[in-house]
Amino acid sequence: MPFASLKPKITTILANSNETVENRLKEVCELLQSAIGYYDWVGFYFANPAERTLHLEAFAGEPTDHTVIPFGKGICGQVALSNSNFVVPDVSAQDNYISCSMNVKSEIVIPLFKNGENIGQIDIDSHIADPFSEEDEIFLEWVNKKVSEIL
Ligand code: SME
Repeated sequence: MPFASLKPKITTILANSNETVENRLKEVCELLQSAIGYYDWVGFYFANPAERTLHLEAFAGEPTDHTVIPFGKGICGQVALSNSNFVVPDVSAQDNYISCSMNVKSEIVIPLFKNGENIGQIDIDSHIADPFSEEDEIFLEWVNKKVSEIL
């Protein structure tokens, strides 16, 4: 598991103030998607609290139609309301799920907090069933904390 070796790379990407925040987030997505075999799609959604919607700001992987997701809809929309990590070992077992690709078998969504407020999330889809462990949750919580520091 290359999580430890990825941390300094992520720190460097996020610290590069010559790039826009959006470009830095895209670089983080591309790094995670290319370095971790079972991360097939990686994206950051951010909340519009007034409209109660999530908006895709950066991603790596296949383009998705689901660039705007209402709070409460799908795994992402549920995390916008729950403020809790959501690990889905088998997406076919979920009633409230938005399918982006027939190849996706599992998903993990980790909320991103700024000053204690749930302002967005990192969303990862995998083509492998049940690949995510507590180590992924801890690592992705760390990623989100680093991202919140540049927002
Ligand atoms: N599957 C997500 C939708 C976003 S895509 O995975 C990119 C969901 O159920 O919220």
